[in-house]
Amino acid sequence: MRVTEGELAGWGRRVGAEVEAPVFIGLSGPLGAGKSVFARAVARGAGVEGVLPSPTFNIVFRYALPGGCAVIHADLFRLRTVAELAGIGWEDMVDEEGAIVLVEWCERAGDALPRTRWEIGLGFVQGEVGVRAVEIERFGEPVALPRPRVAAG
Ligand SMILES: Nc1ncnc2c1ncn2[C@@H]1O[C@H](COP(=O)(O)OP(=O)(O)OP(=O)(O)O)[C@@H](O)[C@H]1O
Ligand SMILES: [Mg+2]
Repeated sequence: MRVTEGELAGWGRRVGAEVEAPVFIGLSGPLGAGKSVFARAVARGAGVEGVLPSPTFNIVFRYALPGGCAVIHADLFRLRTVAELAGIGWEDMVDEEGAIVLVEWCERAGDALPRTRWEIGLGFVQGEVGVRAVEIERFGEPVALPRPRVAAG
């Protein structure tokens, strides 16, 4: 499937608003593919307000929501070994009750990825500026995700 930035962000906002946490969503794809665009839209849709930085240099941002839930946005780009996951509170993050967990560069977590999860792969489309290819993959039996809405064609 192919999406514009507006479609990707619109989908992310619906995911944030509609998904029944807890849910783990891994995001993969090259630098600039749109992983942070999607993750920030999910946070917005879930009700997070204010500035939403991109976590590349901080690894994990946690946004508490009224009602006790949280959106956790992590980026594993700078992770060198899977052992380093312990230092960012990976186990607690993955198991957190009621959390929407979004992890960029999720493939770097290797076997530490939760068995039950969604993975969203984003990629560039040659010759089409402003468009991204999206692949959605399900592992185990995660909660339902709303589908992207894209213009016909
Ligand atoms: N269809 C699209 N979907 C998402 N982003 C798009 C699209 N078209 C253009 N863009 C632009 O591509 C960039 C995506 O940046 P973003 O920070 O989300 O990438 P990323 O995958 O998180 O990269 P990184 O691996 O560096 O964290 C933004 O500047 C955005 O405006
Ligand atoms: Mg990013």
